[in-house]
Amino acid sequence: MSDALLIMKNISKRFPGVIALDQVDFDIRKGEVHALLGENGAGKSTLMKVLSGVHQKDDGEIFLDGQAVNVTDPLTAQHLGISIIHQEFNLCSDLTVAQNIFIGREHRKGWRLDEHSQNCAASEILQNLNLDIAPETLVNTLTVAQQQMVEIAKALSCNSRILIMDEPTAALTESEIESLFKVTKMLKNRGVGIVYISHRLEELAAIADRATVMRDGCYVGTVNYQDTSLDELISMMVGRDLDDIFPPHQSAVCDEVVLTVKDLCRKDVLSDVSFNLHRGEILGFSGLMGAGRTEVARAIFGADPVSSGQIIINGKRLSKHSIPDAIEAGIGYLTEDRKHEGLALGLSVEINTLLSNYSGYCNPAGIIDEKKSSEVASKLSKRLRIKTPDLQQLAGNLSGGNQQKIIIAKWLCKDTDVLIFDEPTRGIDVGAKYEIYELMYELVKQGKSIIMISSELPEVLALSDRIVVMRHGRITAELTREQANQKSIMKYAALES
Ligand SMILES: Nc1ncnc2c1ncn2[C@@H]1O[C@H](COP(=O)(O)OP(=O)(O)OP(=O)(O)O)[C@@H](O)[C@H]1O
Ligand SMILES: [Mg+2]
Repeated sequence: MSDALLIMKNISKRFPGVIALDQVDFDIRKGEVHALLGENGAGKSTLMKVLSGVHQKDDGEIFLDGQAVNVTDPLTAQHLGISIIHQEFNLCSDLTVAQNIFIGREHRKGWRLDEHSQNCAASEILQNLNLDIAPETLVNTLTVAQQQMVEIAKALSCNSRILIMDEPTAALTESEIESLFKVTKMLKNRGVGIVYISHRLEELAAIADRATVMRDGCYVGTVNYQDTSLDELISMMVGRDLDDIFPPHQSAVCDEVVLTVKDLCRKDVLSDVSFNLHRGEILGFSGLMGAGRTEVARAIFGADPVSSGQIIINGKRLSKHSIPDAIEAGIGYLTEDRKHEGLALGLSVEINTLLSNYSGYCNPAGIIDEKKSSEVASKLSKRLRIKTPDLQQLAGNLSGGNQQKIIIAKWLCKDTDVLIFDEPTRGIDVGAKYEIYELMYELVKQGKSIIMISSELPEVLALSDRIVVMRHGRITAELTREQANQKSIMKYAALES
């Protein structure tokens, strides 16, 4: 292909027990946005890690400008003009924004570090991105979204010819997505070839020129975005027609109140948060990023201190404010931050699955009953269709979406009354999302109650029995299904207080 900037041909990559890539073809043209799609574990990140020198391919060839190249390591990739923004960030949290942007390529005056020139250069890039962050800011004080933008700034500073973005919008707000797309278009006009991996298919229309779909480590096909439909892309991804993105709504709400939160306050974070959760209810929490939804969840779960307020579960007030007490009372919290809080990445899938109820699988002497524990773990991993060669695989080796499924399995294994799902489908493919929704319906039918925090409005609208909207740490509205729509939610989410 004459206009191809880069061609990957017959790429194969094996990990112990997994063929992650099986003779995959992929190409990138100058000035295009090429979406790379596929279910969790399809091999998207692995293909891009091969291209950016993180993983070595077992077979296949890579051509840049028609010349065969050997991308042996990330530095070589950088020299070739290939940059990647990883699905899980790679920033050094104790360094400043500028130090992160120029890591390994520090500005120097003689042999000394030239912080001033480095900060100026970083500042220029940040301004180009319309980012209001000082280059001297420590990365650990930034929000997830801001860290994402720093990753992008870092990639831009290399003047890359190829930019790979692995789920760049998973943690971004609408306005941040808009500015990301603006920058993407600017780069496109400069002739940069962009690979864009996302499970948020609705975004593609705004940005994609072509789309390549992978399934189970194999290449399925490449289409021009304009000549295809979302349905066609989805059936290429899942290998069958998926009639609907959401299962039909099945309300299971009872009158009984399971959880009451009363006047919950935390200085500068939460003000007078009060609401009821009923048995069998799915209560959606909506709001812009930073509205305080995760903070409410963490406060209920005892993960953060509160200055005042009450949490009453099944008629009993939680007297102490700690995670063990919350779990004991029957509350489970599926965190949005799976890498740091949700999983022990260095432990097996099986142990992670059992973590919330480890003592439940021990015999009276405190020794784990291996037969029982592996039975439960294998049942749960089948139920959630967790893709792993076996249950002894390290959780950290699974694809992003499959890691998220382990967190869900973990809480299913502990039979809790109230489950708080914080961004449960972030990074999860369409087919698996459907399964998670079905699972949530199954749970409420069994009499459990769910608080679902989600930034995806269609998801909140489709699943919730009621929707609480937050802004600046306060509840600004409580909407019934009839009252709730995208417009009413956005109105209360963006309300000036
Ligand atoms: N370092 C590793 N060791 C072992 N197996 C791995 C490793 N990295 C990836 N895999 C496996 O390779 C397969 C492809 O994973 P990959 O991360 O490329 O999927 P993905 O398409 O990016 O999925 P997702 O949408 O969930 O991010 C998965 O089965 C995964 O478990
Ligand atoms: Mg991935």
